[in-house]
Amino acid sequence: MIKIAPSILSADFANLGRDIQRVSTADYIHVDIMDGVFVPNISIGLPVVRSIRPVTALPLDVHLMIVEPARYVEQFCDAGADLVTVHVEADTEENIHAAIDRIHARGKRAGVVLKPKTPAEAALPFLEKVELILVMTVEPGFGGQSFMADQMEKVSALRALIDEKNPACELEVDGGVAPDTCGACIAAGANVLVAGSAVYGAADIPARIAQLRGETP
Ligand code: DX5
Ligand code: ZN
Repeated sequence: MIKIAPSILSADFANLGRDIQRVSTADYIHVDIMDGVFVPNISIGLPVVRSIRPVTALPLDVHLMIVEPARYVEQFCDAGADLVTVHVEADTEENIHAAIDRIHARGKRAGVVLKPKTPAEAALPFLEKVELILVMTVEPGFGGQSFMADQMEKVSALRALIDEKNPACELEVDGGVAPDTCGACIAAGANVLVAGSAVYGAADIPARIAQLRGETP
């Protein structure tokens, strides 16, 4: 089954509780954390994750776009994250392993993220210990960018590796996912689709979520 993870980066932050309840038919709430260093933008941090935890029963999928993420993963777990993902480009391989281990020690799910220019092989050192791999289909930093169809080859390659080495691992895509691009992601083997502007820009949000799952045309 295809899961949808609305990105609250496209929500109205003055009405965040309401906008999280608006996506209650989704599967995860995707929370983009940006530090202004790893990416050229600053978004939200720990206090916001703590505040949204009680307003939804959906798992919080926290995407850390921050340098040296091992410094903060435990705090994000304690703030209410269910799944924490860290970029492989954000630190050394050893420190990314440490970040994953700290997330697991808190009893939470861990994932690694690949930027568009990062090859599929960069996930290999972590493939057998993570619960999710996230492939960026835009350069991280901003919502509302155009989908990079050239990332579908990487998604297919990772699907084959996951099926072989860690079949329970989820494969997520993030960036520019919309009704005209979700089919390519699903065909390439993704099972979790992040969507910000395509969800929050829709007149009928539950209908849009069903459409992105491929349930309706
Ligand atoms: C980009 C973020 C995405 C973003 C997606 O750095 O990681 O989660 O919010 O937004 P859309 O779906 O509008 O491309
Ligand atoms: Zn994201």
